[in-house]
Amino acid sequence: MKMKQCLVAAAACLCAGAWAQGQINIICSVQAEWCNMIGTVYARTTGTKVNVSMKGSGEALAQLIAEKENPKTDVWFGGTGDPHLQAAEQGLSLEYKSPSLSQLYPWAQQQAQQAGFKTVGIYSGPLGFGYNPELLAKKKLAVPKSWADLLKPDYKGDIQVANPGSSGTAYTMVATLVQLMGEDKAFEYLKGLHRNVSQYTRSGTGPIKAVARGETAVSISFVHDGPGEKMNGFPVETITPIEGTGAEIGSMSIIKGARNLEAAKKFYEWALTPAAQEMAAAAKQFQLPSNKSAKNDPRIPDFKKIKFINYDYAKYGASAERRRLIAKWEKDVNSLPR
Ligand code: G6P
Repeated sequence: MKMKQCLVAAAACLCAGAWAQGQINIICSVQAEWCNMIGTVYARTTGTKVNVSMKGSGEALAQLIAEKENPKTDVWFGGTGDPHLQAAEQGLSLEYKSPSLSQLYPWAQQQAQQAGFKTVGIYSGPLGFGYNPELLAKKKLAVPKSWADLLKPDYKGDIQVANPGSSGTAYTMVATLVQLMGEDKAFEYLKGLHRNVSQYTRSGTGPIKAVARGETAVSISFVHDGPGEKMNGFPVETITPIEGTGAEIGSMSIIKGARNLEAAKKFYEWALTPAAQEMAAAAKQFQLPSNKSAKNDPRIPDFKKIKFINYDYAKYGASAERRRLIAKWEKDVNSLPR
């Protein structure tokens, strides 16, 4: 066959799917650019057909619970670690010990161990505040430096955070405050914060995008979501509260009953490699990668400069605790008038 005919034949094969090395269905709980990048690169380099559906961490868990008897998902990629631990506890994910585990930071390995190897840490990032310095200056508001600052009446209507039922970012906030203050004080705090919040968004990144676009002055967000907005030309800065804060262990799980199990394992192994993990920064997302050999972009938050609480991932990732805290927030906080 001549070269040109050869190419045409290969293209026809691709269209017909004959060349494709199976397929894989992924729920992706990081931002769209990263989800699309891993989907496209993985499909092009392996010939696997990749179907990516994007869902916030809480919504992803709800979908996996709903499809438990007849799973349509093979891998759940990204999103905060707590609902991945809950999925493990509820028997929604499959035990799988990656040969690459020893290449990961201890926090990522610990996430795997405490879930009986039904999940694994793929990145980490600190919770903090996003703010729009131009809007703050225009409104003559100071940069909030502490959790306490956010309760000041000056910020009324100028703070956004996500809904902890749908968003892992917002659940991380609730769990962080409970660990920092004790449960009673944390819920008093959340009621006070409620008076200043203009909107609870569905997705965890909604609030910092609103800050970027000047729709709100302050957000409660993962600080690694700030630099990407800044790179897109928006005036966004981030800060972590002086009292201390929590961090997420973004995770990945293989779904129990996955129809494409072999493809799922191959993708999982690929996602733990330094090259795959470096794609986060290429997609303007600046979490700390879990593979020790992945190159760290300078825009990744410097963990050494941040005051962290000793976040109890096992306790706050337990099904009963997560459900209880979200229901309590809904009943005692979200139902209050503003
Ligand atoms: C963003 C962050 C991730 C985080 C995710 C959680 O994509 O960059 O680090 O895991 O939000 O999303 P959610 O909508 O569940 O808060």
